[in-house]
Amino acid sequence: MTEFQLLKNAQPTAENVREAIKADPGFGNHFTDHMAHVRYTREQGWHAHSVRPYGKIVLDPAAAVFHYAQEIFEGLKAYRHADGSVWTFRPQKNAARINISAARLALPEISEEDFVGSLRALVEQDVEWVPTPASAADEVSLYLRPFMIASETFLGVRASHEVDYYVIASPAGAYFPGGVEPVSIWLSQNYKRASHGGTGFAKAGGNYAASLAAGEQAAAKGCAQVLFTDAAEDKYIEELGGMNLMLVTREGKLLTPELGDSILDGVTRRSLLELAPQLGLEPEERRIPIEEWREGAASGEITEAFACGTAAVITPIGRLVSEDFTIDHGDQPGEYSMKLRTTLLDIQYGRTADINNWMVRL
Ligand code: COI
Repeated sequence: MTEFQLLKNAQPTAENVREAIKADPGFGNHFTDHMAHVRYTREQGWHAHSVRPYGKIVLDPAAAVFHYAQEIFEGLKAYRHADGSVWTFRPQKNAARINISAARLALPEISEEDFVGSLRALVEQDVEWVPTPASAADEVSLYLRPFMIASETFLGVRASHEVDYYVIASPAGAYFPGGVEPVSIWLSQNYKRASHGGTGFAKAGGNYAASLAAGEQAAAKGCAQVLFTDAAEDKYIEELGGMNLMLVTREGKLLTPELGDSILDGVTRRSLLELAPQLGLEPEERRIPIEEWREGAASGEITEAFACGTAAVITPIGRLVSEDFTIDHGDQPGEYSMKLRTTLLDIQYGRTADINNWMVRL
């Protein structure tokens, strides 16, 4: 096991400030006292493992990441269980995915040992920042954000020979301010997120950048997220700006777009498909025409829709809005959406037996 050298923060956040943040964290607003860091060079590979005070990263203005967006990231959460212990969910999946992303973005692979070790080293240091849920409906956690950037000072267009990997941590409540209140989503008309042969399956910052203009249009229409259809035919539903999407049918199917090279292999998505049979749902991954959703919702064949991801957990979708039509699932969360959500959260917070061995103690 690689040692992460600890460089202590001389001025940690005052306890009363930290506790106030944990009581009402929002999402992505506040950060803990430390961050993990590992440095990579072609000559030395990954080295200089440390946990250091959270703070500014100083890079040369010519660092490759600023110009060619050679960057990838991950998202996981640390959950506090009733006995005070702290756990994370299927980190091996994130370790595998960061390396899939790394291969696509011509960044170096990082070992599962270093990846999980970096989470553990950071959470060990900032364990006081992991909130305790007030009830079973509470989804507070410590959101962990590993990321890798191309840090070589060089303007030629080629893979960077120097890379830095960090993990930062942020106390988090619900991603959407309304919690489990159903959100409206906007169907992107003219912008696509990803296309065949591109980077859509990678967790690369550039994919999220590509979603932002459509996200602005969504916000202008009063919607919380944007849905993209496939770039080739503009016909099949793919992914939301920052999360996957699922539908529930009257006949008991849990439907979601099949993976390809334009859809992110979400850990929450995968886990819900695996949990579905235990709730009497049959998982089905396939191409789903937007017309099928529209007609199915109108006829009552498709009864629920929800967004899913580490940050979003499961957030019901009340409406899909487009220039031409609206799909309406009402303003109450769907029954299966809530059952799946509770089942997942109960595992993550240790309220039910972890029969799949998904939880890893930090
Ligand atoms: C996550 O769910 O962890 C993500 O990375 C999505 C992000 C857009 C908040």
